[in-house]
Amino acid sequence: MNKVIDEEIQGEATVLENPKESDKKLYLESYGCQMNFSDSEIVASILDKHGYQTTRNYEESNLILLNTCSIREKAESTVRNRLKSFNELKRNNPSLIIGVLGCMAERMKESLLEEEKLVDLVVGPDAYRDLPRLLTEVEDGHKSVNVLLSREETYADISPIRLDNNGVSAFISIMRGCDNMCSFCVVPFTRGRERSRNPLSIVAEAKELYKNGYREVTLLGQNVDSYRWNINKKGEILDQQQPTTNFAQLLEMVAHVADDLRIRFSTSHPKDMTDDVLHIMQKYKNICNYIHLPIQSGSSTVLKKMNRGYTREWYLERIESIRKIIPGCAISTDIITGFCGETNEDHENTLSLMDIVKFDFAYMFFYSERPKTLAQRKYEDDIPLEVKKERLQEVIDLQRTHSLESNRKCIGKTFEVLVEGPSKKSEDNFCGRNSENTMIVFPKENVKKGQYVNVIIEDCTAATLKGKIV
Ligand code: SAH
Ligand code: SF4
Ligand code: F3S
Repeated sequence: MNKVIDEEIQGEATVLENPKESDKKLYLESYGCQMNFSDSEIVASILDKHGYQTTRNYEESNLILLNTCSIREKAESTVRNRLKSFNELKRNNPSLIIGVLGCMAERMKESLLEEEKLVDLVVGPDAYRDLPRLLTEVEDGHKSVNVLLSREETYADISPIRLDNNGVSAFISIMRGCDNMCSFCVVPFTRGRERSRNPLSIVAEAKELYKNGYREVTLLGQNVDSYRWNINKKGEILDQQQPTTNFAQLLEMVAHVADDLRIRFSTSHPKDMTDDVLHIMQKYKNICNYIHLPIQSGSSTVLKKMNRGYTREWYLERIESIRKIIPGCAISTDIITGFCGETNEDHENTLSLMDIVKFDFAYMFFYSERPKTLAQRKYEDDIPLEVKKERLQEVIDLQRTHSLESNRKCIGKTFEVLVEGPSKKSEDNFCGRNSENTMIVFPKENVKKGQYVNVIIEDCTAATLKGKIV
């Protein structure tokens, strides 16, 4: 798979650490999407209360947990290889507990124990409160599994332990699960039914983060536009005495936490994104000018087979609305090439849609068939791998020109940047994002992370802007 894809969505495993003294040591590695990273912070919090301190060094740990992803075959094979690398460690230290959490645990259930002999513990995304009990079972010499999905669990009352982050920006999970059943997607099977979290607990978490110096929160859900509290899908109010909350209203509530707390969110769904949300974004300066709106394919025929619930025309109308209501709003997307039955013409339609929209950024993948999904049951995975990859490469090349074009337009402009800390490449530089979510690198001056600075852009690549503080 192409490097861009690997780095951007699958990422390298991130090791999470929260230093504190204890003899029970947890090594926790996260794969997959932001929801998983956010869940790992909940897991760390639950296990912290059970006496576990996190470590960066798996060799000194008594508990290794991998929070896994099933979205594509490659995501799963990465985890399986990682498990193999712990074989010797486990041989030398039989009391070491190895657990698999997250989407792969949910998808594979008990079969994971048979296929990966060194695994002691399999825990699905809705069962993390049960971890202390499951660990006791393992300590008593039994393998242990809990993959029950819940219709209510949102972990609303658990205060996440912020792990290995920059102390400036944090994730807040606002809902769990997904009811959309896109035909290619494993998430509804691994994350269960959609449910929203109490808005007051979301606002409280944002306030707490702000108090602790954070200046940016990202509200997370698989489809944030279908966030709803105290009202069901049919529009019936559940408790007449209490207010109802939709996503636009939630955004507004979080925007009021502090003028200098930036708000981002992910992921929006083209079929559900309303103008109400756009108007709220436009009204509040602290809600960032950035929308991630996955298209998947530019062909209405393919979109129908994907069960995405919108057409190419509908998507383009949503883009027009964004550009009208929030001029200058950055837009990114997700694209899948080589879905079942995708013709050359369908692929050309994806390229032409990209040319029309000119996304600022994109995550791009070739189709990977997932067990149990509608597509796996109903359609043949008939596009040869080389064709999927060739099409992907064309999409990546085109996107690179669009990203570069979009960044070049920024040269000479000044942006407000939230300083995140030293840049990865050089200690002499700081980095941070503008409201439009582009990473900006600039020489360190007398500023601290968490501060806002104005940076004038002097140069760029397809991925980054470079400038200096004015
Ligand atoms: N909830 C988000 C997407 C979550 S998964 C949404 O609806 O947009 C992130 C991305 O992974 C998807 O947008 C899609 O582009 C990609 N993806 C999901 N399943 C895939 C599969 N089977 N093969 C390849 N890419 C896939
Ligand atoms: Fe998967 Fe579709 Fe749900 Fe996104 S909206 S998580 S692609 S089923
Ligand atoms: Fe992967 Fe599960 Fe997220 S499948 S993308 S970790 S919801």
